[in-house]
Amino acid sequence: MGKIETCLSPELIHLYNIREKNIVIVDIFRATSTIISALANGVSQIIPFSNLEDCRAMQSQGYIIAGERDGRKADGFELGNSPIAFLNGNYSGKKIAMTTTNGTLAIEKSKEGANNIIIGSFLNLEALSQYLITKEQDVLILCAGWKGKFNLEDSLFAGALANGLKNFFSTDCDTTIALENLYDCHKENLKKIISLASHTKRLQNENLEKDIDFCLIPNKYSTIGIFNQDSIKSIQG
Ligand code: MLT
Repeated sequence: MGKIETCLSPELIHLYNIREKNIVIVDIFRATSTIISALANGVSQIIPFSNLEDCRAMQSQGYIIAGERDGRKADGFELGNSPIAFLNGNYSGKKIAMTTTNGTLAIEKSKEGANNIIIGSFLNLEALSQYLITKEQDVLILCAGWKGKFNLEDSLFAGALANGLKNFFSTDCDTTIALENLYDCHKENLKKIISLASHTKRLQNENLEKDIDFCLIPNKYSTIGIFNQDSIKSIQG
C-alpha cells in the first residue's frame, strides 16, 4: 500500500524525500485552480516560471503571458491568475507562460527528483484521486501556502484529498492526519471556514469573489494536469 505525506510549504520541502513520488501541487487560490481551468478549456500547455522577467520573455515566442503578484495582475502581462479568464474558450489551443506568487514556485521546488508532478484543485479532486489510486506510488501533497507560510485553503484541500485516498494509502505523517481531521470537521461547509482565510480577504479586497467561488467548486472537471520536462499538459482523468 502506498504512503501519503503532506508538506505545508515549499520552505519545508527539503525535509521530505521527493524521489519516486507523485507530488501533488496545491494552490487553491488560485494557481492550480487556474491551471486546471485553463487545461480543461483547451489551453494546450502551460509553462510555469518562478520569476516575472523570464515569463515575460516568452511573449516574443508566441506565448500568452499570465503574471500575478500578491493577487493582482503583474504590469505588462496579458493575464493575471484568474481561472475564470479561460471559460470563454478564447485561449483554446494556445500556449501559456505563467508566473504566480506561490504556486509556480512550489512547482519549481519540486522539479528535482519527483516521479510525477501533478496539479491538484477542488475543481478536479475526484479525477485526481482516481488517478493517484491507479498509480499506486507514494504521494506527497505540497501546499503552496502564502510566501512560505501555512495557508488554510491549501491545507483543507490536502485534508480532503487524504480523506479520499485513505482506503488506498497509509500514512504516518502527523501533518496529513491533522489536515484530514481538519477537513472532516468542516467538510459540510468548506466555504465557511475558508471565508476566514487571509487570502480570501486579499482576493475580496481585489473584488475577486467570483474567483473564490469558482475555485471551491468540487469536481467541475475530470482533467488531470501533469508537469513533464518543462510544461504542464492535460491528460483526461
Ligand atoms: C499564489 O500563487 O499564491 C496565488 O496564485 C496567488 C493568487 O493568484 O491570488
